[in-house]
Amino acid sequence: MIDPILWNDWHPVARSADLKPGTILRSRLLGTDLVLWRGQNTGAIAWEDRCPHRSVQLSNGTVVNNTLVCPYHGLAYNSAGQCVKVPAHPNYVPPKQACVKSFAVQEQYGVVFVALGNPPTSVAPFPEWNDPTFQTYLSGGHYCRCSGLRAIENFLDVAHFPFVHAGILGEPSQPVIEDYEVHSIDTGIYMKNIQVWQPDPDGTGQGGIATYEYWTLRPLTAALMKKREDGQTMVLLTYMTPVSEEECLGWVWGALNYAHHLSEAEMEAFQDEVMLQDVGNLESHRPKRLPLDGQTEFHLPSDRASLAYRKWLKQLGVTYGTLRSSTTIVV
Ligand code: FES
Ligand code: CO
Repeated sequence: MIDPILWNDWHPVARSADLKPGTILRSRLLGTDLVLWRGQNTGAIAWEDRCPHRSVQLSNGTVVNNTLVCPYHGLAYNSAGQCVKVPAHPNYVPPKQACVKSFAVQEQYGVVFVALGNPPTSVAPFPEWNDPTFQTYLSGGHYCRCSGLRAIENFLDVAHFPFVHAGILGEPSQPVIEDYEVHSIDTGIYMKNIQVWQPDPDGTGQGGIATYEYWTLRPLTAALMKKREDGQTMVLLTYMTPVSEEECLGWVWGALNYAHHLSEAEMEAFQDEVMLQDVGNLESHRPKRLPLDGQTEFHLPSDRASLAYRKWLKQLGVTYGTLRSSTTIVV
């Protein structure tokens, strides 16, 4: 079933650096198999992974100059998806319908984004990425067997820090979450004054309280900001790619203007470790989809953000990756 909200949105599918000229990658988005490729003089290209002639996977083919050649009968498709060569019939002019289904592509923040439908003009803003006073890194895509909506809800959940990320982002002996604010904004929800005790919130080696702000940008896109008392900041942008209703790929882009002693590789390795801890926990969700039925799970005061997120998803009408009762949904 097509979910128009997610269908008409941008989703990260691969690192740009992994899609070098002349290479082919496979991806899967909203249950659709994709072939990604880049010709010698083309941008990144994303197509349905199916040759329109006899429906084999084009991802088993080869890139020849700026065409993708199918492995079965050698038909060549140009960057627009149009068949331009049929080896068995050198003088044959392929008809218009000899065309692969192609999708919108954007490359931003070192990643290839694809939209299956009609997406907004740009992917989520992340001004710190190109700000020379910030150091930046990318972690992902991390494959995870659960709904991407579960993974975004987890991103908005700080009460798990002392347990899932013990010794890194929290301590089991300091688990208390004080009340915090949640507001509705144009792009979903905004939470502020979220405080959690951390072993080293400022990179000084000293334990203390870290204060976070979070906001959603799209159903599967969110960001957070951690501001130090001296005004220096860390911003994380996250996208969870909906591979299927019960699988996602997790991505986090980070930007900090204070940890200059850390290399990009060290920051990425730290984020990888955090995300692998999250993946281990997220994969244990039963059900793997996010319940929007108001009955399957119960909530605590510290789940104020999760509740607001679920309510917003219901208002938007997101269905893909959710669990809904067949009867009326209680908000
Ligand atoms: Fe692709 Fe025939 S199936 S060329
Ligand atoms: Co986590």
